[in-house]
Amino acid sequence: MTKVHIIDVESGNLRSLNNSIEYIGDYEVVYIRNRDDFSTLDKEITHLIFPGVGNFGHFVRELIKRDLMEPVKRYVNEGRKLMGICVGLQSLFSESEESEGICGMSLLDVKLTKFDTSDPTFKTRGLLKSVPHIGWNTVHSLTPSKSDRCLYGMNTQDKYYFVHSYAAKVDTPRIQNLISKAEDSGWRFGLSKYGSETFVAAISKGSFFATQFHPEKSGVAGLRVIKAFLEDSADEIINTTSSTPSGLPSRRIIACLDVRTNDQGDLVVTKGDQYDVREKSGSSDGSVRNLGKPVELALKYYEQGADEITFLNITSFRDSPLTDLPMLEVLRQAAKNIFVPLTVGGGIKDMKDPVSQEMVPALKVAELYFASGADKVSLGSEAVTIAEQYYQADKIKSGSTAIEQISHCFGNQAVVISIDPKRKFVGSLTETSMQCIEISDPSKFGPNGEKYCYYQVTSQGGRKLHEIGALEVCLACEDLGAGEILLNSIDHDGSNKGFNLELLRQVKENVSIPVIASSGAGCPSHFAEVFEMDCGIDAALGAGMFHRGDYKVADVKKYLLSQGMDVRSEMDMSI
Ligand SMILES: *[C@@H]1O[C@H](CO)[C@@H](O)[C@H](O)[C@H]1NC(C)=O
Ligand SMILES: *[C@@H]1O[C@H](CO)[C@@H](O)[C@H](O)[C@H]1NC(C)=O
Ligand SMILES: *[C@@H]1O[C@H](CO)[C@@H](O)[C@H](O)[C@H]1NC(C)=O
Repeated sequence: MTKVHIIDVESGNLRSLNNSIEYIGDYEVVYIRNRDDFSTLDKEITHLIFPGVGNFGHFVRELIKRDLMEPVKRYVNEGRKLMGICVGLQSLFSESEESEGICGMSLLDVKLTKFDTSDPTFKTRGLLKSVPHIGWNTVHSLTPSKSDRCLYGMNTQDKYYFVHSYAAKVDTPRIQNLISKAEDSGWRFGLSKYGSETFVAAISKGSFFATQFHPEKSGVAGLRVIKAFLEDSADEIINTTSSTPSGLPSRRIIACLDVRTNDQGDLVVTKGDQYDVREKSGSSDGSVRNLGKPVELALKYYEQGADEITFLNITSFRDSPLTDLPMLEVLRQAAKNIFVPLTVGGGIKDMKDPVSQEMVPALKVAELYFASGADKVSLGSEAVTIAEQYYQADKIKSGSTAIEQISHCFGNQAVVISIDPKRKFVGSLTETSMQCIEISDPSKFGPNGEKYCYYQVTSQGGRKLHEIGALEVCLACEDLGAGEILLNSIDHDGSNKGFNLELLRQVKENVSIPVIASSGAGCPSHFAEVFEMDCGIDAALGAGMFHRGDYKVADVKKYLLSQGMDVRSEMDMSI
C-alpha cells in the first residue's frame, strides 16, 4: 500500500483530505506533526501533502513551533513531490497582510493581500464584494506548457472550491514581471479571478504543486486533481485559456438537513412549518416528521450536485453534557463519501464534561466537529448572546467569545452564524433603537397600520424572543470575526412561498461577509428570485423541497442555467 504523508499542525479539517485520499485508491495516510516525525519518516516519504486552513500567522507559527519550516523547505528544494493546499500554498510566499511581521517560506517574493470589498465590479452595481471569497470558481488561465505534468489534471472548464480572504494577487507590474520570469525558469501558474482581482490559484514547479482552492472539497473535479498528483498521471491540459471569466463566483445551492432524535430514538431528518416539526394529522399525529436518514440524504444531495451540505442539530438548545454527540458520527460517515463543504450547527457552546464536571469551551467543542469532518461550524443561540454582550460592552471585543476564538484558530471562514428572526411591526421609529425597514406597500402594513418593521431575533428554535434585531446581531458577529451568515426567517420557514427578500436585502446591504438565503424555498424559481435581487446574495439553501422529493438539487441548477445564471454542474461522477 502506498503511503501518503500529511503535515498536520492541527489547524483544521484534515479528515476530508484523508477521506479523499482513501476514496481515490489503496493509500495509507501517515501524519507528520513535528520535526522528529519528519526525520524518522523522511526516507519513506514519496508523496507529501501540506494542507493549511485558517490564519496565515497561526499556521506559520505552528510550523515554527514544531520546527517544520526547514525540513519542508529542504524537501521542496530536493525536488521531491509535494502538494500544498490553501494556507499551505500561501505559506510558500514571503508574507501576508493577514499577519504582519510573520515570514513565510519566500519561495516567491510576493505579499498576500486582502480582497477588496469595494471592488469596482461590484461597486458599480451598488454592492460590496463579499470577503472571504467563498465558493466555486474556475481557474481561467494555466501556464501553457509542453510538459503535461505541471498542474495535475487541472483544467479551465471545471470549478473548484475556494475559501479565503487573502490571496497572491497579480495586480502590479512587479508581480506580473515576477510571474513571467518565474515561468521562464519552469514555474507554472493557474490564475483565477474574483471580481476584478486576479490571483494565483495554483502553482507548480517540477514535482512541487500547490493550490489556493481545496481539491478535497471540490467534488469530483478536485478528486481528479488529487488523483493526478498521487498517481503522477496528469492528463494533458486541453484548454489553457477559457472564455473571459466574469469574476463572479457560481451561485451556491446548499442542502440543509435538520437533524434530531425522534420518539423512537432514531436519528432523523425533519422539517417543520415555522419550526414545528410534529405531524398535525393522520395516524402519526404528534410524532416527529421523519424525512429520512441524515447520512443517506446528504450523499444523495451531493450526488445531485449540492455545493454544500449543512447539518443542524435542532434540539441542541436542550441542556445536555458533552457526551457522544450523535452528530459527530453523522459527520464522520458523511465525510467519507461527500467531497463538498460540510457545515454543522447547533450545540457549539460551552458544555460540561460529564466526567470531570469541568466546562469545555465552545472552541473545544468546535474542534471535535472539525476533527470529525466539518469544515464550518454554525453558531445560533450562542451568536445572539455574544451580540447582546458586545453591545452591552459598547462594542469592545473581549477576545474570549466563541466567535473570536474559533475564527482566530480556524479562520473566519470556519465560523457561520445562523439566526432565526421574526418580523416585528413598529408604529414609529422612536419606538425602537433597532434599524427599521420602511414598508412601502400599504397592503403590507402591520395590523395596526404600522409602517415599519424590523426582524427580531429568536433562539431555542424560535421559542425565545430577544430584544435585538437580525441586522444588529449580524453586524456584531461580523465585527467579531464571523465569516458567513445563514439567514433564516421564521415568517417564511416551511411556507414554500420563497425567500424573505426584504430581510435578506436589509442584512446583505450592510455586511460584507457572504449571506446564505434560507427559509421558504419551494421551487427552483425561488432561487432565481433571490439571486436576481441584485443585493449580492450568491448562496441559497433548500430543505423541505428536497427532502419531500418535490425537486432535486439538479433541477434547481438546471433552472438557474436556463435563466443565464452560472452554477457548478458536474455530470460525470467518475474520477
Ligand atoms: C475549450 O474552451 C472553450 C471555451 O470555454 C470551450 O468552448 C471548448 O469546448 C473547450 N474545449 C475542450 C476540448 O474542452
Ligand atoms: C443535539 O444537542 C443536544 C443537546 O446538546 C444533544 O443532547 C443531542 O444529542 C444532539 N443531537 C445530535 C444529533 O448530535
Ligand atoms: C444599511 O444599509 C442601508 C442601505 O444602504 C443604509 O441606509 C443604512 O444606513 C445601513 N445601516 C447600517 C447600520 O450600516
